[in-house]
Amino acid sequence: MDKRNRSEMVFEKLKEVIPGGVNSPGRAFRGLLTPPIIAKRGEGALLYDEEEESYIDYCSSWGSLIHGHAHPVIVESATKQLQAGSSFGMTTAIEEKLARKIRDRIPSIDKIRFVSSGTEATMSAIRLARGFTGRDGIIKFKGHYHGHSDYLLVQAGSFVLDVNQTATSKGIPQDFIRHTYVLPFNHTEAVRAFLREKGKQIACIILEPIAGNMGVIPTSHEFMAMLREETEKNGTLLIFDEVITGFRVSFRGAQSLYPEKPDLTCFGKIIGGGFPAAAFGGREDIMNHLAPNGEVYQAGTLSGNPVAMEAGYAALSLTEADHFYEELERKTDLLTLPIIQYIKDNNLNACLNRQGSMMTLFFGNKKVESFDDIQSLDGPAFQKFFKFLVDKKILISPAQQEASFISMAHSDEQLVYTREVILEFLNLWKEDALNQEMACCAEMMS
Ligand SMILES: Cc1ncc(COP(=O)(O)O)c(C=O)c1O
Repeated sequence: MDKRNRSEMVFEKLKEVIPGGVNSPGRAFRGLLTPPIIAKRGEGALLYDEEEESYIDYCSSWGSLIHGHAHPVIVESATKQLQAGSSFGMTTAIEEKLARKIRDRIPSIDKIRFVSSGTEATMSAIRLARGFTGRDGIIKFKGHYHGHSDYLLVQAGSFVLDVNQTATSKGIPQDFIRHTYVLPFNHTEAVRAFLREKGKQIACIILEPIAGNMGVIPTSHEFMAMLREETEKNGTLLIFDEVITGFRVSFRGAQSLYPEKPDLTCFGKIIGGGFPAAAFGGREDIMNHLAPNGEVYQAGTLSGNPVAMEAGYAALSLTEADHFYEELERKTDLLTLPIIQYIKDNNLNACLNRQGSMMTLFFGNKKVESFDDIQSLDGPAFQKFFKFLVDKKILISPAQQEASFISMAHSDEQLVYTREVILEFLNLWKEDALNQEMACCAEMMS
């Protein structure tokens, strides 16, 4: 029995007891030409599967692992806390340390509350915005994903796109989503017109300041300025979902790349150092509406879990090393710049979008700046690309409408190897396209 077959056997067994064999749909590799990776362990930039086959990992636990797998400092901090007790259901001093660290780095945050997942963070931030403003309406953008709470699972990005692009998951009553307005991302005038008409009914606008869940697409500066201007006029809160971008795209998150500041921000992934931790925070006058101070209820048995807090604190501390983000940028340049150049030089129908150490290579469109642009992507090209990489022991996030991530653990050798493999694929893809074009011309002439 070959190695891949053994992995497939494990997956078959998983499917007997877990729907689809996975606890999150993206792990099933649906629509791809490779069976799912069954992860066993990780070390630095490498992920090992059940067969001890290693892959250079750019999924990085969907962006959580900015230091790679099992960084010794994070492992030590988490282990020490684990030995002292994994959960108390009581407040611990480490929560204050991590809260203060985040607040020191993000000027828009006065107060912060910890939860266990990004879904909880966005759900709680929206409840708070509704409680604070006394309004029901919320706005999200097409293709943005904010976790799987009912009223946010409308025209969401990420793997929801595979389920239903236009509506929502089954199981969500229309009543739950009638207050959710889904507007086109980066369409300044359309959204402005909507806000001028309905702005006063809207509690909050939530967005990924740099979208990651339809592939990497930054918010245009014009769009962001309009959002801040109109929300301020209408008393609507602006919520940045920085679950991916927080402490990923820069030292102070995506919000440091825009002059406009949000009222509330959601974090996840990196702030847990690979453990389940997330948070939402912002202006003190808003945050003080949370129970026990205020009347907006929000709670969690494992919220602020001490092991996750210690791991998160260690992870964030490591990003404070001299020139950390410059080095991450240099590593990302090393991988991406020659690819961007190659695409340009060869006039390929593709593009590589990148912000900090987040990136997506799109096939089938030369420019991807909005949800509309991902409608015409070349799915089969991505399938072939993904398989080509897996065969060469490189793992990127398993969907074209997702971001992949460079971590500090990626060595220059690994990055250069990855780059050369990607260039090799693009070269083959280009020849393939040329051959098809020639075959087509020959057919027309005959
Ligand atoms: C931008 C964004 N917000 C929220 C979430 C939900 O986070 P979680 O999966 O931890 O619930 C995700 C998950 O990928 C995300 O990318």
